[in-house]
Amino acid sequence: MRIILVGFGVVGQNLVKLLLSRADDIYARYGMKPRIVATLDSRGAVICPSGLNLHRLLEVKRLYGTVAAYDRYEGQGEYTDSKQTMEVSNNRIEEIVRSVDAEVLVEATPTNLNDGEPGLSNVITAIKHGKNIITVNKGPLALAMPSLLELAEYNGVILRFSGTVGGGTPILEFAKHCLKGDRILSFKGILNGTTNYILSMMEEKGLTFDEALNDARIKGYAEADPSLDIDGLDAAAKLAIMANWIMDLKVTIRDVRCKGIRDVNLNDILEAKRHGKVIKLIASCDESRSLSVEPMLIDKGEPLCVNGTLNAVTFKSEYSGELTIIGKGAGGMETASAILRDLIEVREAMSIV
Ligand SMILES: NC(=O)c1ccc[n+]([C@@H]2O[C@H](COP(=O)([O-])OP(=O)(O)OC[C@H]3O[C@@H](n4cnc5c(N)ncnc54)[C@H](OP(=O)(O)O)[C@@H]3O)[C@@H](O)[C@H]2O)c1
Repeated sequence: MRIILVGFGVVGQNLVKLLLSRADDIYARYGMKPRIVATLDSRGAVICPSGLNLHRLLEVKRLYGTVAAYDRYEGQGEYTDSKQTMEVSNNRIEEIVRSVDAEVLVEATPTNLNDGEPGLSNVITAIKHGKNIITVNKGPLALAMPSLLELAEYNGVILRFSGTVGGGTPILEFAKHCLKGDRILSFKGILNGTTNYILSMMEEKGLTFDEALNDARIKGYAEADPSLDIDGLDAAAKLAIMANWIMDLKVTIRDVRCKGIRDVNLNDILEAKRHGKVIKLIASCDESRSLSVEPMLIDKGEPLCVNGTLNAVTFKSEYSGELTIIGKGAGGMETASAILRDLIEVREAMSIV
């Protein structure tokens, strides 16, 4: 299976590490030999139709900061694979997608919830050129999932996005496949690990909001600009993706009523604690299909009440009642494992090696 990998940061590099460490196992268990035939970062691209040397790719990125330096690096003369580096140009995605034979494009550029770029154009370009798509980037889906699913179907390609919700925890697959035959009436969940960590620290250690946010930054759970997380937008993007995929709604992030945790203070948390409750940022799709993200009081004993950076979603279904899935919500390797899951699904659908 030939892959174009767009974005070679935390997730992209972890995907390469995963493919390196699991190559034999992936072939033995799934009969699949994934080959990265092109990769791009913000500064350039490299193409190798027979498959890039993945050790060399990681080393080049580490040493030079861009995959475009692939040709420059020979190691100790150990790399003899054929190669061709591309110069950066504005339309390089278009050029690469048109000229490189590949079954799948993996989109792993930064999430942008304003206009979805560059991910949105990458996804559309790939679909129009008949490439299957796996995206871990929430931006294109949060803003245009109904039309992207339609475009993919029209062009006969598969669009998968396991890593966009729950990192490595298969929340989307659980609802879509494990509850087949049942009917999901509603769901609610904790979809953002950063805000859950902040609220947990306030509750467990009595930290103020600013202290807890600072702690999250030190531990690497919060970005320098944490607004996407604390204003609830990251959770709202995931909720929109779930609502489209699981409930067959045709919605975008603009259909989500969204309130973050900026106004939650330590007094609110301590008051809730006195009554055996906790405050969590809950994303919910209720039985009337109304979508919201907001801080809510929940019972400490509820299965949904997970702490730290964990994610959890409770599905209410017609026959099975309430089911909760809990797991790590993010992480480079966890998200790379979600991409691998999607690759296996694409491979099974296409019967390619
Ligand atoms: N990290 C996680 O735990 C996690 C979990 C779930 C989902 N995600 C999603 O996965 C995506 C990637 O996350 P990440 O953590 O890997 O981010 P990251 O470390 O910031 O990597 C982003 C990569 O995209 C490249 N890039 C930026 N603009 C580009 C452009 N115009 N064309 C080509 N490449 C471009 C960057 O290039 P440079 O290397 O040159 O800067 C970098 O290699 C994001 O959308 C994120 O929301 C991440």
